Amino acid sequence: MVELKPLLDEGLTRAVLSNPRRDSPYSKVTVRPVLVDQQLRYQFEYRQGAKATHANLLPLEAENELEALIRRDFRQALLQTPVHDYQVLNGEKLLRRPPTAAPDASLTHDRPKRRVLAEGEAVPFLVELGVMTPDGKVRAQRYDKFRQVNRFLELVDTVLPNRPVRIVDFGSGKSYLTFALYHLLAVQRGLDVEVVGLDLKEEVIERCKALAQTLGYERLRFEVGDIALFEGERADVVVSLHACDTATDAALARAVEWRAEVILAVPCCQHELFEQVRDDALSPLLDHGILRERFASLATDAARAQLLRAVGYDAHVVEFVDLEHTAKNLLIRAVRRGDTVTDAEAMSRYRTFKGRLGIDPALERALADVLPKGGGVS
Ligand SMILES: C[S@@+](CC[C@H](N)C(=O)[O-])C[C@H]1O[C@@H](n2cnc3c(N)ncnc32)[C@H](O)[C@@H]1O
Repeated sequence: MVELKPLLDEGLTRAVLSNPRRDSPYSKVTVRPVLVDQQLRYQFEYRQGAKATHANLLPLEAENELEALIRRDFRQALLQTPVHDYQVLNGEKLLRRPPTAAPDASLTHDRPKRRVLAEGEAVPFLVELGVMTPDGKVRAQRYDKFRQVNRFLELVDTVLPNRPVRIVDFGSGKSYLTFALYHLLAVQRGLDVEVVGLDLKEEVIERCKALAQTLGYERLRFEVGDIALFEGERADVVVSLHACDTATDAALARAVEWRAEVILAVPCCQHELFEQVRDDALSPLLDHGILRERFASLATDAARAQLLRAVGYDAHVVEFVDLEHTAKNLLIRAVRRGDTVTDAEAMSRYRTFKGRLGIDPALERALADVLPKGGGVS
């Protein structure tokens, strides 16, 4: 069954389920987002011949219901988002196309605004960073940055705990997204959060400290240091965006060690597996440097997400921004599962994957002490 969550994360604007299976009680189901008391719901219209019934579902319920309908009742599904049109055939095959024309006017009428930061409303940190003018206009040459910050906030908004938390951003660099997180949680949601940005570069950190002070962001702190040697307090949420090569693994390992509730990582320039990966059956792919590089990079992220699943996280890789805006466009988003500590079945799938490709990823070595050894979930 195809995974629907990454599709829905793009913001479902319409779904049409057709070509019902023989036992299906419905001839067709359509889905659209609506606002009910300013809350996002998905309205399902179930057609049985001339009769139609409706249900307004919460986003998570909608995801489960869509999955069940596609798996059980319909051979065909069209799922539309602002970014792509997806055709799902028999629950398995996924075809992706550029989005068709804007959704029906009737849909846009009810559609919730998905942007966390709105154009026209000055956001102090974006003004200070030169992305917005003081009256809230996005500067044309910084539009990509605005889009990236917004997209990031949309992707993380639903997984961040709605209570005071401590967040560490490893490899925070110029810290656009660190400031964005603080803005979302401390300014927009009014939560008493603490956010720490860590980076190797002293000069960059000094600038971030000065900006935090200018903005009066008292609980946003910056420190100079190496991720692997960081000795600060435990964080509930660990963020690492575009940290170089295995610095991402050091961040993920630290997050797991802390049993952080949420991990958000956008990996970057993965070199580690480039030399390691080998599989005779894949030689037509691996013989080309550029394809080997992309494949090794995807395999690195797949291994990371799978290892996180093995140590008790619900981990998904989702598209961060379109490739045209940055080549580093995958976000590993992991949320710690309730009481489950480890998942040996996920580990076994990881071992098969690793064995097939002949790889030895840094994250596995870093997590050696906590990875499950045998079978089952413990
Ligand atoms: C490409 S920048 C990304 C900055 C920021 N997170 C963003 O997404 O815009 C990567 C940053 O990671 C930092 N970095 C790389 N390895 C690191 C390490 N081991 N410890 C701390 N910072 C590191 C670099 O200094 C650099 O500022």
